[in-house]
Amino acid sequence: MLPICDLARQYQTLKPEIDAAVTGVLAGGHYIMGPNVKAFEQELGAYLGASHAIAMNSGTDALHLALRALQIGPGDEVITTAFTFAATSEAIGMVGATPVLVDIDPATFNLRPDQVARAITDRTRAILPVHLYGQPADMGPILELATARGLAVVEDCAQSIGSTWSAPGQPLRKTGTIGTIGCFSFFPTKNLGAAGDGGMCVTADPALAERLRMLRSHGWKRKYYQEILGINSRLDDLQAAILRVKLPHLERWNLSRRRIAARYDQLLADIPGVVVPGTLPDTVPVFHQYTVRVPERDRVAASLKEAGIETQVYYPYPLHLLPIHAALGNLEGTFPEAERACREVLSLPMFPEMTDSDQDGVVAAVKAALSRPAGVR
Ligand SMILES: Cc1ncc(COP(=O)(O)O)c(C=O)c1O
Repeated sequence: MLPICDLARQYQTLKPEIDAAVTGVLAGGHYIMGPNVKAFEQELGAYLGASHAIAMNSGTDALHLALRALQIGPGDEVITTAFTFAATSEAIGMVGATPVLVDIDPATFNLRPDQVARAITDRTRAILPVHLYGQPADMGPILELATARGLAVVEDCAQSIGSTWSAPGQPLRKTGTIGTIGCFSFFPTKNLGAAGDGGMCVTADPALAERLRMLRSHGWKRKYYQEILGINSRLDDLQAAILRVKLPHLERWNLSRRRIAARYDQLLADIPGVVVPGTLPDTVPVFHQYTVRVPERDRVAASLKEAGIETQVYYPYPLHLLPIHAALGNLEGTFPEAERACREVLSLPMFPEMTDSDQDGVVAAVKAALSRPAGVR
């Protein structure tokens, strides 16, 4: 079976370094808030160009605590996309605020700034763009709206580490350093993945950074001297040690993902009905996923499975049609592009170690599935 993401293959390429890092932590005996966490915060901050990096236990906690640090709570609204992973809106709910969903751009699958503009009310406190699949969202107009209305921008960078955006004539900025707070996930399958859960918030604002440090550790600056309500959301030193081994390889891996994506674009170009992902000008994506639209998506996915190729549907439901968001009152048809994406998207195998022959097999299987008459697997 060709998996959609082959973590075991990646481990083999770095086995001696990862094994040594793990053994080093175990032998050192400093497992919580140890030296690797501090070093990883510095190294990732430097890589991203962020003044402050605060490690957390997961991307979900990073989003949750980012909103808490901004003191967003009951009565407040946060605008985000209807087409994302559940954790994005979950974080908004966790602080007691209301998620206000908007539709997406069909080419990039990211939230549309014109829809964000229409959704702003007196209660809006923040815009929460998601750089889905590693494609940077349309940050220029989002920043303009946020500045004009005094809103925070919390970037969900769970899938976008290393991707960049630039304002016209300005230097490149890594996603996560464009808005007020950037939130990252180190879930194992992410472009920079731990061997368990992990996350990070980055910000240029020292006061927010201090609050985030307190929030992730019981609301104290000085041990046991609790000042605000926090939680326990610390990155394990073991995970930080593994992430430190992997970070120097991230640029090379992202380059490899872009090369594989460009080759997919070429190879899939002449298959009728297949729509390859779009990228905005002035952005450099990192293809956490390579996601196409295909006609009869479920039949194509089943056919690829039979050919020994794993695919995934990220995501089968738009947020507004999930039972948890029923109270928002958004009925079917409210966000037609998000709904259409849920019916049509298919993520194909994508990982840096993937070979041309792995990829040729995927493309041949897509071609074979679509050359059969409708309804025939
Ligand atoms: C878009 C998005 N947001 C948030 C998260 C949450 O990250 P984590 O799984 O580390 O909590 C994920 C991870 O799957 C994600 O893909």
